[in-house]
Amino acid sequence: MSTKTQTVSLEEIEKQNGYMAAVRAGNMAFERELGFKPPVFVLTLGCQQNESDSEKLAGMAEKMGYAVTDKPEDAYLIIVNTCAIREHAEKRALSLVGQYKHIKAKRPELIIAMCGCMVVQEHRAESIKRSYPYVDLLFGTSDIHRFPEFLCEKFKRGRRVLRPCEPEQVVAEDMPVRRESTYRAWVSAMYGCNNFCSYCIVPYVRGRERSRKKEEIVREVSGLVAQGYRDITLLGQNVNSYGKDMGADYDFADLLAELDTIEGDHWLHFMTSHPKDATRKLIDVMAAGTHIAHHFHLPMQSGSDSVLKAMNRRYGFDKYIGIVDYIREKMPDATITSDIIVGFPGETEEDFEATLSALRRARFDMIFSFIYSPRKGTPAAEMEQIPDTVKSERFERLLAVQNEISLASNKLFEGKTLRVLCDGESKNNPEVINGRTEGGKIVFFDGDEGLKGQFLNIEIERGDTFALYGKIKNN
Ligand code: 5AD
Ligand code: SF4
Repeated sequence: MSTKTQTVSLEEIEKQNGYMAAVRAGNMAFERELGFKPPVFVLTLGCQQNESDSEKLAGMAEKMGYAVTDKPEDAYLIIVNTCAIREHAEKRALSLVGQYKHIKAKRPELIIAMCGCMVVQEHRAESIKRSYPYVDLLFGTSDIHRFPEFLCEKFKRGRRVLRPCEPEQVVAEDMPVRRESTYRAWVSAMYGCNNFCSYCIVPYVRGRERSRKKEEIVREVSGLVAQGYRDITLLGQNVNSYGKDMGADYDFADLLAELDTIEGDHWLHFMTSHPKDATRKLIDVMAAGTHIAHHFHLPMQSGSDSVLKAMNRRYGFDKYIGIVDYIREKMPDATITSDIIVGFPGETEEDFEATLSALRRARFDMIFSFIYSPRKGTPAAEMEQIPDTVKSERFERLLAVQNEISLASNKLFEGKTLRVLCDGESKNNPEVINGRTEGGKIVFFDGDEGLKGQFLNIEIERGDTFALYGKIKNN
């Protein structure tokens, strides 16, 4: 394998630091005059990789003298970090940006920036340039580290800065990060994807696979553990192909084993895995680990071999279920979750039923289910589509089957005590406290906000379809 990945040079990072200082000087003048820092609002759509990118954007904004707000109407800078995985996510970004136009009408100094997967697509970039004149900055997924430069240029020249260029083969280190949580953290292990599943836009908008140097990952994880982080998730669109682009004899299982030696009281998670790279070695490392969570998110996408072939997934159901069986053999307590797409072009009733029986056989704890959404430029978008009514009907049937399985699997926890990382008050009901198990299951219990970020033992009283309910066990 060739090693094309470039770490962004120190000179380049220094250059960006210079731009940050320039913007900061302007913002300090603002603060002296108005008595407060200009607020920045960051909106994140999509996956954990985007959440992680947004933490970097917010980190840079803070370093440039902005103060993070959760109220867009107060903001002097709004960053919309977009997603392109399904049409719904794109529509949402465009409709939100449409709303921000009204804020800008009242406060013309407001700068609106758009970045992330959606804006890298040529047709989207063109339409934003043309039809959203109030969007000031546009930049691509591999240019996050150049955000200060673009912002500086906007301030200097007053013109729009539209650079939605194709993803490049770069990895940027040493950028400021403003982490949302003090106890759960994202750590990128690699970026991009080489798989080109026929339905998926990710390889086009995030570029080819590129791994971070293991020393950088070890340094970041060690630092987080030392700061008291309790749950660290290694991220990558296809995290278990880590290292392949570097040509080194060191793979994701080796990385995980090395990270597991860092001492502390924490969980190590990773996502997302492609079944073709889910090796026995990786599962053995997980089973033997001290901190590695017994949670495997392993997208199956479909239970039909012909659909899997058309999806370019490079495995059949037999291979897939072999991995699931091996995970359960080595870790009987493992939580296994999956992604399923219904209504892929050409999916017949028989194919769909194969997916239903695959669910019954695999008995996932939980699935993320999606109705196939054609993505411009991907091979599947050119195939013959199936009607929306059929897609929706299959989606409902899929949920019904999985809900039954999830309920049964959650009932098995009744009477057991589980270790739960507390997330404090539930967003929907501040009366109850919630947390997550090692396998990511949501648990509700009585307690107080002060428990947030702590590991607790919870005695499970009731298992329901989407959550567990229990009480704190004092021991
Ligand atoms: N339509 C529907 N779902 C999709 N996914 C990816 N692309 C599409 C698409 N075009 C789903 C896959 C993937 C998850 C992150 O999103 O299931 O695993
Ligand atoms: Fe998309 Fe497939 Fe890559 Fe996942 S592995 S990001 S589904 S192309």
